[in-house]
Amino acid sequence: MGRFFVSENGKRALSASLISQNDNLFRCPICSNSMKVIELKRFVCSSNHCFDLSKSGYVNLLTHPLKTKYDKVMFDSRRIIFDSGVFAPLDIAISNVIIETLKSDDCKKMLDAGCGEGSHLSKILSYLTQDPYIRLLGMGVDISKEGIVLASKQYSESLWSVGDIANLPFANNQFDFIINILSPSNYDEFRRVLTDDGLVVKVIPGSDYLQELRSLLHRNTDKSVYSNESTIGLFRRNFTLVNIEKIRYKFSLESPLIEPLINMTPLSWSATKESVNEVLGMGLKNITIDLAILVGTKE
Ligand SMILES: C[S@@+](CC[C@H](N)C(=O)[O-])C[C@H]1O[C@@H](n2cnc3c(N)ncnc32)[C@H](O)[C@@H]1O
Repeated sequence: MGRFFVSENGKRALSASLISQNDNLFRCPICSNSMKVIELKRFVCSSNHCFDLSKSGYVNLLTHPLKTKYDKVMFDSRRIIFDSGVFAPLDIAISNVIIETLKSDDCKKMLDAGCGEGSHLSKILSYLTQDPYIRLLGMGVDISKEGIVLASKQYSESLWSVGDIANLPFANNQFDFIINILSPSNYDEFRRVLTDDGLVVKVIPGSDYLQELRSLLHRNTDKSVYSNESTIGLFRRNFTLVNIEKIRYKFSLESPLIEPLINMTPLSWSATKESVNEVLGMGLKNITIDLAILVGTKE
């Protein structure tokens, strides 16, 4: 599905129609019963639990309101960094992993679990659907409403929901692909919603990811070094690891990108104001991107 302009009210109708065309996609986060769209604006399960579709087309399926540390400043900053092209090689690499397994032209479903402000999912879909034979429905879920609001306002071609990966609001065996980029995972839930021959693509930091920031913001603390070994071990205990692809490069930074770079990462949460000011003042020229793409199957 290509990108196109849709008005606010049109976005809600578009989401409602995408949901209606894909019966039994969602399940109620309260009782697990199936859900359907009513009057193009409400989402109701067979036990009458009701959730509104917002004007921009996302649905909030959290059972209670939640405040997280992932706030609007962080997502605005991630969007700025994303738009600068820092993550383009990553999204191309993920698209290449997926394209290798797309054997038929049936419409496939891809979930971005912990999608944040939605840019990765949107970019990956746009790379893949350059091939006219590839048909993919993209769905993004994130626990942060701020992220999902930004995603739904910008990217109308996918379905966006506020939800918890520990209680995914989706029916069993739905997704051909789950992507999970720099976000927490819940492997029981991933296994439940993945089709039997589906693929999980998880992106985790390598030890040098954002090392220039890490070493300055967390100098002399145990956060100054990072290893992803235990994360890989846990992934292996839950999925058959069919491939690990490592991506490492340096991205040169224009100075207006330094502040959003600091604000986009949880590394800034526990940094002191002094160390943040020091980084802002020193004019970083490059940043290291060091990531691993773990590809897993159920069997
Ligand atoms: C570092 S951000 C990455 C976001 C996005 N994948 C990206 O790369 O820009 C981590 C994301 O995980 C989300 N997250 C954390 N806990 C979650 C949960 N229990 N369920 C769903 N999303 C969660 C956060 O809200 C945040 O958007």
